[in-house]
Amino acid sequence: MTLIPARDTGPTLRDLLEKASAGQRYNLAFPGATDLTHQILAELMTTQLLNNVGSPYDGGHGHNHTKGLEVEVVDMVGDMMRAPATRWGYVTGGSTECTEHALLNARMQFPDLVVYSSADAHYSVAKITRKLMLPFVTVASTPTGQMDLTDLEGELARRRDRPAMIVATAGTTVTEAVDDVAGITAICRRLALTRRRIHVDAALSGPPLALLPETVRPAFDFTAGATSIGISGHKSLGTLMPCGVIVYAEAPYAAAIARVSYTGTRDVTITGSRSGHTPLLLWSVLAGLGSDLHTNRFDAARQLAEQARARLADIGVDAQRNPHAFTVYFPPPPPELLKKWTVTGDERYSHIIVMPGTEAEQLDELVTDWQLLMRPVPAPRRKLARLLGTAATKGGP
Ligand SMILES: Cc1ncc(COP(=O)(O)O)c(C=O)c1O
Repeated sequence: MTLIPARDTGPTLRDLLEKASAGQRYNLAFPGATDLTHQILAELMTTQLLNNVGSPYDGGHGHNHTKGLEVEVVDMVGDMMRAPATRWGYVTGGSTECTEHALLNARMQFPDLVVYSSADAHYSVAKITRKLMLPFVTVASTPTGQMDLTDLEGELARRRDRPAMIVATAGTTVTEAVDDVAGITAICRRLALTRRRIHVDAALSGPPLALLPETVRPAFDFTAGATSIGISGHKSLGTLMPCGVIVYAEAPYAAAIARVSYTGTRDVTITGSRSGHTPLLLWSVLAGLGSDLHTNRFDAARQLAEQARARLADIGVDAQRNPHAFTVYFPPPPPELLKKWTVTGDERYSHIIVMPGTEAEQLDELVTDWQLLMRPVPAPRRKLARLLGTAATKGGP
C-alpha cells in the first residue's frame, strides 16, 4: 500500500480543516449532529474498499462489503420505528434517495399513482415527482407547518379512484412540524383508499421522535400506518458523512427483481455501487451507543433549543418552537446578522437547529449579535414600559 504523502496536500487540507470548523460555528441552519467522533473506525474507513452494490440481503460475488452490518442497521432503525417483522430496507445516500425509492416502487406497483405532500415538505419531493413524471398535489399546511388534514381529505376524495402515495414529513425542513400519520391513515380508511402508500420523510426527527416515551410520542411510525420511513444518518445520528436509511413495512415491489449475473445480487437500489462505509458509521453509532445515550443526546439538545427560544423571545424576537423540536423559527432577522450567521429558512421563517454538538456559547453569541442590531427603544416608550412594569427592551428587530 502507498501512503499518500502529506508534503503536497498537507497545507491545503489543514486550511480546509480550519475553514470547516470555523464555518460550522456560525452555521445553525442546516441540521447535523457534530458531537460524535469515529476514530474507532479509522482503519476500516481509510484502508478498505467497501462496496455494498445491490441488495443488502444478497452478498453477491464480492466479499469486500458491509452488508451484514447494513441489515443490522435496517433492523435497528426498523425496531426504533416499530416496523413489523416483515421489514425490508437498505442504507441510502440520504433521505432524498429514500423518498425516491419509495415513490419509484409505488409507481411500479401502481402506474396511475398520484403523489400528495404538504407545502412544507422538503423540496426533494416535488423534484422526484418531476423526475418520475408523477402527478403531484400540494396539500396546504397549518401556520406551524403541519399537513392540513382537511385539505388532504378533500384532495384525496377528489381522486379516490386513483392509487395514492402520501409523503408525510416527521420534522419539516423549516419549522420541524410533524405530520399526523395516524390521522392520514384514518382518512384513507374513511375513503376506502386501499391502494395507498404512506412514506414518512423523517430525515431529521425520525430517531429523536422514535425514542420519546409512548405517552408523548407523535403518531408517525409504522404503528400509525406508515408503509415506509426514511431517515438521514448525518442529521440526528451524527455520522458526519451524508447517508440515510429506508425501511419498508414489507419488501417493496422491486425487491423481487432478478439477480444481475455480473454482481450476483438483486438490483433493488437507486444506484449501483453503494458505500460500504456509511453502513459502518450507522452501525457503530446505533450499536455502539444504544438508545439511552441517544435519548440523552436528544434531550440535551432540545433543552438548549428551548433556552435559545426563550432568550430570543426575551430580546423581542417572535421565536417559536414546535413540540419536541430542535428547531427554533422566527421571522427573517436583520440582513446584517446574515453576514456572520447562517440561519436561513424560507420566505416566511428563518431558523436555527440546535443539534447534539451545538454549544450554548454559540447561541449566546447569536443572541448578543442580534440584540446589538436592534433599534434602540425610544426614551418615552422606555419610560412608559417602566411605569407599566413591562420589559422595555422588547422593541423587536
Ligand atoms: C424533511 C427533509 N427531507 C429530506 C431532506 C433531504 O435529506 P438528505 O440531505 O439526507 O437527502 C431534508 C434535508 O434537510 C429534510 O429536512
